[in-house]
Amino acid sequence: MSYLMMRLQKYIASCGAASRRKAEDMIKQGRVSVNGERASLGMEIDEKKDQVELDGKVLKPETIRYIVMNQPAGYVCTSKDRHAEKTVHDLIDSDERLYTVGRLDKDTEGLILLTNDGEFTNRLTHPSHEIEKTYEALVQGNPTRGELIRLREGVRIEEDDGERKVKTAPAKVRVIARYEKECLLEITIHEGRKRQVRKMLRAVGHPVKKLKRVKEGFLTLGDLKPGEYRNLSKAEVKKLLDFAEKKKKKSEQEENGRRPGKKVSRSEKMNQRRRPSRKRR
Ligand code: URA
Repeated sequence: MSYLMMRLQKYIASCGAASRRKAEDMIKQGRVSVNGERASLGMEIDEKKDQVELDGKVLKPETIRYIVMNQPAGYVCTSKDRHAEKTVHDLIDSDERLYTVGRLDKDTEGLILLTNDGEFTNRLTHPSHEIEKTYEALVQGNPTRGELIRLREGVRIEEDDGERKVKTAPAKVRVIARYEKECLLEITIHEGRKRQVRKMLRAVGHPVKKLKRVKEGFLTLGDLKPGEYRNLSKAEVKKLLDFAEKKKKKSEQEENGRRPGKKVSRSEKMNQRRRPSRKRR
């Protein structure tokens, strides 16, 4: 296959017309044509030369976009039911179909990424190597040293199904300021459970009054006011992907270290050979 050739269903998906799976159905239904001829499943096209139409409309690949936004409280991330509530999409001055990378609760504000690059989203939100996210949480009361240690070491919180409980992974937690009846904490986690920070803080007896995500990987909100957004630079996109890649490698190494039948590297094998064998008794 020439490097310019691409599976037809992949091209349709890259134009934002449908998922690859749905595009296959559209091809089977005869709704797709290539250079005026009815297309068939398994076809490959040259996106520079071939004209692809869906229901008689020419398809053009979407421009890939990456946005960082300061999501205001009161807005939801979903794009499914755009009519029900105020969504982050209402704040973007474009008709492009963008999706949030992960999500923030309606009552949380702060940093959220949006893109139409599905691969970018998968890499950043993969459960085994989610990149770190930092929040500022204004909580009720003043956590004790012991409570801060519990938060750092992991606390048991309810799973989304409301039945099981899970222990959260170690977190970084520091006190930014203590007030008479509340406290401002900075908390960094690398998991993405629903309402995780709120649940963690409730578990140690300090419910959240206000929550704001201030950082994702190396990326901060900068000067963005609630509701404002900007495009990410190519360098920022690359750096985020590198960040996720590093996390992936680290978690794979840790995983190998834990596995009983783990692969042994060449240098480890050499060391094992050099070790004198134990005498049998
Ligand atoms: N944790 C929460 O509790 N809410 C969010 O929106 C994100 C993380």
